[in-house]
Amino acid sequence: MDLQKINEFAIKLIYDAGEQIRESFSKELIIETKTDANDLVTNIDCQIEQFFVKKIKELDPSHKIMGEEGLGDKIVTLDGPIWIIDPIDGTMNFIKQHRNFMITVGFFVDGVGKLGYLYDVMRNELIYAIRGEGAYIDHHPIRKLEPLTIEEAIIGINSSWVIQNGKINHEKIANLIRTVRGTRSYGSAAMEIALVVTGKLDAYLSMRLAPWDIGGGMVIAQEVGAVATNLKGEPFNLLSNDTFLIANPSIHQKLLDEFIELK
Ligand code: IPD
Ligand code: CA
Ligand code: CA
Ligand code: CA
Repeated sequence: MDLQKINEFAIKLIYDAGEQIRESFSKELIIETKTDANDLVTNIDCQIEQFFVKKIKELDPSHKIMGEEGLGDKIVTLDGPIWIIDPIDGTMNFIKQHRNFMITVGFFVDGVGKLGYLYDVMRNELIYAIRGEGAYIDHHPIRKLEPLTIEEAIIGINSSWVIQNGKINHEKIANLIRTVRGTRSYGSAAMEIALVVTGKLDAYLSMRLAPWDIGGGMVIAQEVGAVATNLKGEPFNLLSNDTFLIANPSIHQKLLDEFIELK
């Protein structure tokens, strides 16, 4: 398998998809709800996922596709080549803000992340990584993350943590918020991961993410030395939803040991 060729193919697809999304602002947007009134999806989420599915199947019909909108394959095992795709991560921001949303894609073979992409559509900023060959932002190498203390850290966390009744130790999370330099919340997991792998945030944590939110980011994390696990410190399960923590390697274990306790 020629990873460089697949990388060139993926980058072209992502730039094309970004162009389609930017053009969509002058067209009609159809908004529907999924599991609840705040779980939104649009015709553009589906159009973009369909575009990826069509192009990837043209490249190689044996490649499987796991996409948020379910237009790819039903994935029950990680065997073989699998594309994990979120056509728009941060759909609510896409609809309401016309910014702060990403396309994110991961390419895995037998469960091992080979290629990863985080594309900020409105900034036209692409982060990608090839396993073992480093990570790049707009084709410039991204440096390994520098160590820092928890007191110096800025972390991505959203206010829904105050209503995680009975699921976490609230006092420890409150102590984390007191200890760190600052907190941020962007409404796109892929964007928060992009900020961590480029050292603009030092950690991001979530009580529930799906494989397509983090698949691409996991490959990039590995190349810059960021550590990505679930909140128990185990590998994220790519076949289901899971909790998630990505952090600078100098603070990842301390976050788990001293500030995060699941109940
Ligand atoms: C969502 C965003 C959001 C995160 C949610 C995700 P979507 O993805 O990443 O930041 O908190 O859990 O579902 O639905 O906009 O692709
Ligand atoms: Ca969604
Ligand atoms: Ca998502
Ligand atoms: Ca999505």
